[in-house]
Amino acid sequence: MKQFISVKDVTNLNELVNEALALKENPFAFETLGKGKTIGLVFLNSSLRTRMSSQKAAQNLGMEVMVLNAGQDAWNWEFEEGAIMNGTTVEHIKDAARVLSEYCDIIGIRCFAGLKNKEEDIQEKTLSLFMKYATVPVVSLESATLHPLQSLADCITIAEHPLAKPKPKVVLTWAPHIKSIPHAVANSFSEWMQASDVDFVITHPKGYELDEKYTQNAVVTTNQEEALKDADFVYVKNWSSFTDYGQVLPTEEEWMLTPEKLTVTNSAKIMHCLPVRRNVEVSDAVLDSENSLIYEQAKNRIYSAQVVFKKILEQL
Ligand code: CP
Repeated sequence: MKQFISVKDVTNLNELVNEALALKENPFAFETLGKGKTIGLVFLNSSLRTRMSSQKAAQNLGMEVMVLNAGQDAWNWEFEEGAIMNGTTVEHIKDAARVLSEYCDIIGIRCFAGLKNKEEDIQEKTLSLFMKYATVPVVSLESATLHPLQSLADCITIAEHPLAKPKPKVVLTWAPHIKSIPHAVANSFSEWMQASDVDFVITHPKGYELDEKYTQNAVVTTNQEEALKDADFVYVKNWSSFTDYGQVLPTEEEWMLTPEKLTVTNSAKIMHCLPVRRNVEVSDAVLDSENSLIYEQAKNRIYSAQVVFKKILEQL
């Protein structure tokens, strides 16, 4: 593996998931693979899980880890080619990416959607520029449109709960939120589920249609109750409007997932990438129920990162 920015970088998803599960069984089996290698984790945005799980994954492989909170601690980056930098930006992304490549053998970068300029976000302006100038493999720690390490962890979590039927029904259900939230987790989950052997359904209120690029073969409905019927896994996530880009539309609070709504499911397991706004997106009763997989998902972030770093290390 030479980079990891989407499901397209995966040759065989089942094999990758099984390899991650083997690493979970024996996390230190390759503890010398990364000896003498350094991974840089660059965050332009906040993080708990991605930051800590990526560090742990790299340490399990024997790598040195350097973390740069580029959104806070580094010089303010310029993104425009040819910019006359006589304003607030101090360092061009081309210089930052090139210099970080001198210090690191692999670089992970987190760069959220700004949710202001749709074209810039769709084109992954920050990630694309960083990758253009970096001279080492780049791993997305969540970009403007996708969150592949989260989606791989979600696939690992689903694989750990096999059912007595060929294909589980997996439902991605939109949830209310008070803030404007990017589409990356939802887009990415949709992409990875369509690459998996599952029956996949997306449900959201009218106006919250995702970019069709990521939903092309998925069943999409605005009827949440119908979508939830017989579901085996229910993934809860908010996202802002894609059509009315980045906006929070006037929406009914009844889209919050509650135990009552789950009565039509097949005792569905509940998933959320976290952080979660409790009792806004999902009720406490659901999140704290025995069917909740939220902490398993968070734990599996270690092994999704570890298997990806391992694959890249093996090709350095
Ligand atoms: N799920 C996830 O990416 O969590 P963080 O934003 O805390 O990294």
